[in-house]
Parts: sequence; structure tokens; C-alpha cells
Amino acid sequence: MLIRTERLGKTYATGWFNKTYVSAVNNVDLTIRQGETIGVLGESGSGKSTLGLMLAGLLKPSRGKIYYEDEPVGYPFKGKIRRDIQILFQHPEISFNPKLVLGKSLNEVYKLYDIPAEGNVVEEHIRNFGLYKEHLERYPHQLSGGELQRAALARILIIKPKVIVLDEPTSMLDYISQAQVIKLLNNVKQEENLAYFFITHNIKLAEIVSDRIIKIEGGEVIEERRVAMQ
Ligand SMILES: Nc1ncnc2c1ncn2[C@@H]1O[C@H](COP(=O)(O)OP(=O)(O)OP(=O)(O)O)[C@@H](O)[C@H]1O
Ligand SMILES: [Mg+2]
Repeated sequence: MLIRTERLGKTYATGWFNKTYVSAVNNVDLTIRQGETIGVLGESGSGKSTLGLMLAGLLKPSRGKIYYEDEPVGYPFKGKIRRDIQILFQHPEISFNPKLVLGKSLNEVYKLYDIPAEGNVVEEHIRNFGLYKEHLERYPHQLSGGELQRAALARILIIKPKVIVLDEPTSMLDYISQAQVIKLLNNVKQEENLAYFFITHNIKLAEIVSDRIIKIEGGEVIEERRVAMQ
């Protein structure tokens, strides 16, 4: 099993003097297999992003365990798992340093992970995401939402992850950009046998892209079902 969680939970504490506690995720037992897409539905505030952040290693769980390839993992993630699990946010600008042109941002990833980037490697990589040389010279604010989200996806895929947590990656995009990103996600998945934890409010989209759909309410998984083959 690629990922398994056991009674995973998160309680947020806010305030300095009068602390208030929000139990955002509770008792989540979940499995994600290689190459599988799990659609994650649930109302606003139900705990979807909190769960996604814990799965991506960006938020420390308050309770329970996460196993990766059957080994328990701690927080923060280290080594292989840190590379294998990536996240794509609703607002792609979060993934980029606003002071760096796209080319520089991407180059940093190659450097960080010691991946050769000579010649046209970067240019060829981004072409798969409908981006070209001219985009490499632009700052994040000089790219459209759709371009930036595709760039964020391109950035993640440099390091060939096994799982991507997608937290409403298309909800800020116009219809055409949405379709482009979905198509790309689908292509990439076929090629790399990726698993997706796909958080969305769009039930129709979830039905199309998912192998399984889970529904979250009040921080708990209240429903889990397989999606019939299309
Ligand atoms: N950093 C935080 N500190 C305190 N409470 C938080 C924090 N982040 C989220 N919460 C609370 O935890 C609960 C779950 O939030 P979460 O963002 O996981 O929901 P969500 O299902 O992703 O919602 P949405 O669909 O609106 O994105 C909510 O009650 C929210 O107010
Ligand atoms: Mg959310």
C-alpha cells in the first residue's frame, strides 16, 4: 500500500490567552494505492484541506498515524517520502517565489534535487505543460492563473512524485484553463502512474476523474464508494 492512515486527526488551537480548539479532522482511516485517484468531497470547513496538508507532510497531525509504503512516517517528512508526495494548491502563486522569474524557480528545483538541467531540458519539460521559453522569463504575476497552475504542476513533476494532493487546483480558473489543467493531470497520470488525492467541490468532475470517492463531514469520512468505470 502506498499510503495508509490510521485514526488520523488534527485539532487546531488558536488564540494566545483564551485558547479555542477546532477539531478539524478525526479518526480518518484511508488507503491510497499507486496510480489511484481518490476524489474528496465535502462542504466548506469539513476538513478536506487539513487532511490533504497532513498527507502532504505540511501539517503535523495531532493524532493517529501515516504509513508510506507500509512504514510509519513522522513529521516533518524526510528523504524519499518528501519527494514522493507533492501538493498543488488552489492558488498556484503560493508555490512560487514572487521575486524569481519562472525559469529561476524551476532551476532551483533541479539544483535542489541534483537533477541535470543542461541545454533545453527545462524548456522541453515545460512544453509538455503548454508553456514556452518566453514564459521562463516572466515573474509569477506576469502569468495567467491557468499558466501559473500549469507551471506549478510542471514544477512538481520535475522530481517525479508518486502522489499529488490536489487541493481544488482548478477552482480559481476559467472554464478553458480548467479543462487544460484537468487534461494535463490526466495525461501525466497515465504516463507516470501517479496517485491523486483530488479535493474538489465539483461532484461531476470527481465522478469523471476518480476511482474512488470519499465524502468528508465534520472532519470524518462519512462515505466511501467506488466509481464505476466510464
Ligand atoms: N490554521 C487553522 N487554524 C485554526 N482553524 C483552522 C485552520 N485551518 C482550518 N481551520 C478550521 O478547521 C476546519 C476545517 O478546515 P479546512 O480548511 O480543512 O476545510 P475544507 O474542507 O478544506 O474547506 P473549504 O472547502 O472551504 O476549503 C474549519 O472549521 C476551519 O475553520
Ligand atoms: Mg480547503
